[in-house]
Amino acid sequence: KGATAFAMELLPRTLSRAQNMDVLSSQANLAGYKAVLLAANEYSRPFPMFMTSAGTVKPAKVVILGVGVAGLQAIATAKRLGAVVEASDLRPTAREQVESLGGKWLDVPMSAEEAETAKSTGGYAWTPSEQYIKDQAAIVDKALSNADIVITTAQIPGRQAPRLVHQSTIAKMKAGSVLIDMAAGTGGNVEGSVPDETITTSNGVRIVGAANIPSQLAAQSSDLYANNLVNFITTLIAPAATDDATANTMALNLDMEDEIQGALAVTHDNQIRLAKR
Ligand code: NAI
Repeated sequence: KGATAFAMELLPRTLSRAQNMDVLSSQANLAGYKAVLLAANEYSRPFPMFMTSAGTVKPAKVVILGVGVAGLQAIATAKRLGAVVEASDLRPTAREQVESLGGKWLDVPMSAEEAETAKSTGGYAWTPSEQYIKDQAAIVDKALSNADIVITTAQIPGRQAPRLVHQSTIAKMKAGSVLIDMAAGTGGNVEGSVPDETITTSNGVRIVGAANIPSQLAAQSSDLYANNLVNFITTLIAPAATDDATANTMALNLDMEDEIQGALAVTHDNQIRLAKR
């Protein structure tokens, strides 16, 4: 039909003028917050430490795997509720952000070559080596054996989510502990998670397949999404070229050389542009 179609999730995220159009960030931020509330609801103990005359209640131990926009908001929310938080990510730059929010960084050793790759991926996850995946699994296994709540957010744009939590680790977790798999809709970070379902394992661990958390905060998610869209659509409109200097008409201004429009357009001028990426 010759339609021009734009995919909002293809937005270049490092462009500062594009930040107010970033739908992945606006939705992930709300989802990270709500994931902690979902976990708190499934968990049958309190998050904060209580020191009372009847005894002391220990704070919940929360582990966050994947510290992008959603993971950072989940750390901040869990800390506000009084939990003790540990977190990990493939990107070494996430360490400072975790620590600035009061979380403890779970460090997975990386080779010098991996450290170089991590620096050059423009803020996105890199492909880890077998050794890294093995070391990461051992660190995750140890951290999760002591955890009360685990929230996984690790995604790779356009690809299947990485498997970070295996059955062997879930089998060591405490009865009553809760896993929220925010990547359940793209393949799942947690073995056995099912999108939009909550499963209780034979050892009493609850696995929540949280495929679409923004829909649980529908009004705010839609508001922010709409703002992102308006900010983008406004860039497609420009004053119409006309000989009448007094005319105040606007026209659609499609420009595939523009770095935002060019990145988002998946079809234009009867061409499918995705293959060129
Ligand atoms: P995402 O939703 O694609 O993934 C979530 C997190 O999981 C990421 O931090 C990623 O590194 C991590 N991850 C992926 N595979 C992993 C694995 N195997 N093991 C451990 N962790 C793994 O990420 P999101 O939230 O979309 O953010 C992507 C990047 O974009 C981040 O660096 C974020 O800080 C950056 N960003 C930059 C913005 C800007 O500069 N304006 C705005 C928004 C995001």
